[in-house]
Amino acid sequence: MNRILTRREFAYSVGAAAFSLIASRRVFSFQAQEQRIRINADVEIGTIRPELHGHFAEHLGSCTYGGLWVGKDSRIPNVDGYRKQAVEYLRELGVPVLRWPGGCFADDYHWRDGIGPKEKRPKTVNIHWGNYTEDNSFGTHEFVGLCRLIGAEPYFAGNVGSGTPEELRDWVEYCNFPSGSTLSDERARNGSPEPFRVRFWGAGNENWGCGGNMTPEEYASQFRRFATFIRSFGETRPYLLACGPSGNDPDWSRRFMDAMRGRRYPNGFSMHFYSGGKNTATNFTVEAMQEQLSSFARLEQAIKQQRALLDGYDPERRMGLLVDEWGVWDRMVPEEEKRYGRLWQQITMRSAVAAALGLNVFHRQADKLVMCNIAQIVNVLHSMLLTYEDRCIRTTSYYAFDLLKAHRAKAAVHVENSDSVPLGLSVSASRKDKDLVLTLVNPKHDVAMRVNCSLSGVAAASGKARILHDSDFNACNTFENPDRIVPKDHAVKVEASQIGVDLPPMSIVTVLVTVA
Ligand code: AHR
Repeated sequence: MNRILTRREFAYSVGAAAFSLIASRRVFSFQAQEQRIRINADVEIGTIRPELHGHFAEHLGSCTYGGLWVGKDSRIPNVDGYRKQAVEYLRELGVPVLRWPGGCFADDYHWRDGIGPKEKRPKTVNIHWGNYTEDNSFGTHEFVGLCRLIGAEPYFAGNVGSGTPEELRDWVEYCNFPSGSTLSDERARNGSPEPFRVRFWGAGNENWGCGGNMTPEEYASQFRRFATFIRSFGETRPYLLACGPSGNDPDWSRRFMDAMRGRRYPNGFSMHFYSGGKNTATNFTVEAMQEQLSSFARLEQAIKQQRALLDGYDPERRMGLLVDEWGVWDRMVPEEEKRYGRLWQQITMRSAVAAALGLNVFHRQADKLVMCNIAQIVNVLHSMLLTYEDRCIRTTSYYAFDLLKAHRAKAAVHVENSDSVPLGLSVSASRKDKDLVLTLVNPKHDVAMRVNCSLSGVAAASGKARILHDSDFNACNTFENPDRIVPKDHAVKVEASQIGVDLPPMSIVTVLVTVA
């Protein structure tokens, strides 16, 4: 039931411990809505794989070079060439999986350029992202080293567009064969006697576009060739991913799957879904923001429809669905791109709400997804960190991921939420043993919500909540003011089968409940 509360009826106090304290310490100057939801804690949807909170790093702008990798001789504090502050922040956040080296860049990347002594590595031109030259000082070993430092599982996007099956097959052998072959011995000479044991391999990226401009049939025929040679070298069985559609394009998926009939399907099928923005990041109008945030309802629809389409070919769901690239893509500011690199954009309260809406979608659809990677981890599009020279700050999206982290590896459970319009209250819930986690997102800029949540299947013993909120949806953390928007404690009332929590406009709240 939604009821518009009077302004005086609705109040919240950050940090207060009990709901009874939520007296009119602060009164909103906008309308408040009453929302009733029900958590069916005994109705499980599926496990929220940690990989649903995955990330992506491309050789693009200042994501890899300058962002994550500054080189050993840099005056910027570093650990063997990796930006120290970035490593620390990412390790704290937890990065379950990291996809690299692209994006579009992947189909123009030749892995041999990035191994061996640095002074001998060729200088290559990044044709997709501005024709700048790269010295290839960040290659396979450096990427795996980064993953080990931040605790991420490496995911390599292979080159199909301008590469050969031989090249990709050799990369797999180089990484995964234990020892005794020419390629594995070369890896050992280059510093890694132990195999890298890389599981996730992509066969191309956006092969309908920057990855070769192929038709689904042409790509399927390439995929079949490449897949033939991607084997288990050693004990690591590759999980091979095929390029899926741009957004919810059934034509690409259907024609690809038709062309694969009777052959071994890929292990995973990866769609890309970006949420475009009409304005530059810190100048969104209400209308542009609502349009962008509404796209998350379409993302949820796309996941359901693409999964249903795949189910028609693979009813047992042996093939996984990925949202391999997702996030907000706003209008760029040319001066910022010049200063910070291509596709650099500020990350605001709106972007954080977008990140939380996306993660809530993935939790609710946990049974249909195996991995989702936000684009991208540093300095590009919907990033977690922004860097400039020696500075490195955590964005609001970093904090959104941090707030939702508690859901990882828990079972998503069913939520009844009658506010099903695209810009309504967004909820996801998960459970493991004595922990119940609930994330509520209010994507409205001018309406607060008082949420009354009833629990079934469990009784709550205690609970605590954290909030990320700023009343200005264009507000952001900057190099000058890096802590403007950070998570804070938030009042929540927990009483056996009832939870009560208030959501100011543009807010994300996670409630951690201990079950009796
Ligand atoms: O993330 C930026 C670009 O967006 C990627 O390189 C490409 O895959 C997509 O179009």
